[in-house]
Amino acid sequence: MKDLLLISILIISLSPLKEPVTAGEVTKEIQIIPMPSEIIVLNGTFEMTGNTSIQAGHNLLLKAEQLRAYLSPASGYKLPINKESAGGNYIELKLSDELLHLGDEGYQLNITHEKVLITAYNMRGIFWGIQTLRQLFPHEILREATVDGVKWILPCVNIVDKPRFSWRGLMIDYSRTFWNTRHTKKYIDAMAYYKLNKLHMHLTDDQGWRIEIDKYSALTEKASKFDTIYHEPKEREGFYLKEDIRELVRYAEARNVEIIPEIEMPGHTSEVFAAYPELSCTGETLSVSPFFKGPGIQNVIFCAGKERTFGFLENVLSEIIELFPSKYVHIGGDEAPKEKWKACPDCQGAIKKYGLKDEDELQSWFTKRIEVFLNSKGKKLIGWDEISQGGLSKTATVMFWRGGMENIALAAITQGNDVIMAPTSHCYFDYSYKNISTEKVYTFEPLSDKLESVNPEHILGVEACFWSHIDRTEPKMDRQIFPRILALAEVGWTESPNRNWDNFSLRLKHQYKSLDLMSIYYMDTNI
Ligand code: ACM
Ligand code: ZN
Repeated sequence: MKDLLLISILIISLSPLKEPVTAGEVTKEIQIIPMPSEIIVLNGTFEMTGNTSIQAGHNLLLKAEQLRAYLSPASGYKLPINKESAGGNYIELKLSDELLHLGDEGYQLNITHEKVLITAYNMRGIFWGIQTLRQLFPHEILREATVDGVKWILPCVNIVDKPRFSWRGLMIDYSRTFWNTRHTKKYIDAMAYYKLNKLHMHLTDDQGWRIEIDKYSALTEKASKFDTIYHEPKEREGFYLKEDIRELVRYAEARNVEIIPEIEMPGHTSEVFAAYPELSCTGETLSVSPFFKGPGIQNVIFCAGKERTFGFLENVLSEIIELFPSKYVHIGGDEAPKEKWKACPDCQGAIKKYGLKDEDELQSWFTKRIEVFLNSKGKKLIGWDEISQGGLSKTATVMFWRGGMENIALAAITQGNDVIMAPTSHCYFDYSYKNISTEKVYTFEPLSDKLESVNPEHILGVEACFWSHIDRTEPKMDRQIFPRILALAEVGWTESPNRNWDNFSLRLKHQYKSLDLMSIYYMDTNI
């Protein structure tokens, strides 16, 4: 696969002939992140004016309207949408079966003096082509009010593009700090601009339950609120109503972003025991505390030996499944403390009854039981890499986050599991820039030497993780994530031979202006 896509940034010109631009060099015109597979820069420009129209068949009208919504506010142009050419220059969107080889997300973008043409095998590719087009315009195109004095000029180019990996994700921790709808939409917009396509919402954890569940109202009445003894600012707690989630899912879907919900089990569940203590091994009622103020990660876990635990989880997951159209549900599975299971007669009874060796096998049994339930509803299970302890089901998707897990990843892929790479070494954006610089993120190679021999199709892609226990305000969170997420976007999209840090860092400088216009804070440094 690596050999197929060699970078070709060329300037083609018949008279006079310009020097070809070599890989690693940036032309004034090409500031795109992530770097496309192939770019040929031609002589000449296209100018969007008051006479420009959009041309699209009826199956692409929604995308055409979206394109107009992106380009109209700053330019002030009406950009009428027509099915046929209406004279003047125009931007055309077109589906083509001939581009099947570029896959679901690939597209072609051809710009000449007269016309812009975005072609793709499917709608998702058209949408990514639109994002590339937005990035080729002067960055003022991102303004929401009319800008005077800017010529809306595009370079003439031929671009052929498709992603390296299908999973280009960002995980946001809503438990330690709650982030509202406006904030999440800002992130979805930025993800779409940089062709990231999976938003993993970590909705439950020790520090708060963040989603409405009809059957268990105490999850939001009690488990979403910090104990008043901690005097936490009110905006840090809260939860999503079902109608908020539906709105977010629709918003994300229109922008090629799939939302994957995470409901933690069996550990990281002390907030649940503030509402339903009977689901733990001891039945003790707990309170919800902010990460650094209370007891921290608590040594508690769902009781695996009581049937009511599974009744609760199946009811909760049924409501989750109804809300999120993604084929995946993430069930956590990380850092499950086993001490309570060791001391619990019900859990020990389950170990005996099901012929299990130890508590690790009990977690594996627990996860497999939940997987059977999810599969029966047409969903696939994802879990953090700890779900491989005690025996990994062949059909679960594993998200690797811990260091030194190459052998476990190799074994999982060899037995047919899909994996997603989110290692703390490169993908944990709550870590400081001293530990993980933007350049370090950029040099991440998900197909490490150890994994070179495996079927690369099982490596779905990469994901950035933002845990919200340290940085708990919007500017701080933004600065932890930007610009590192742009580096990971290119790791996930662009083939390795086409990646070059010096080239990327020049393009990144240009993107800072775009981040400003998207009201995104960022760490303005290349350390
Ligand atoms: C994790 O960082 N505990 C997945
Ligand atoms: Zn128990």
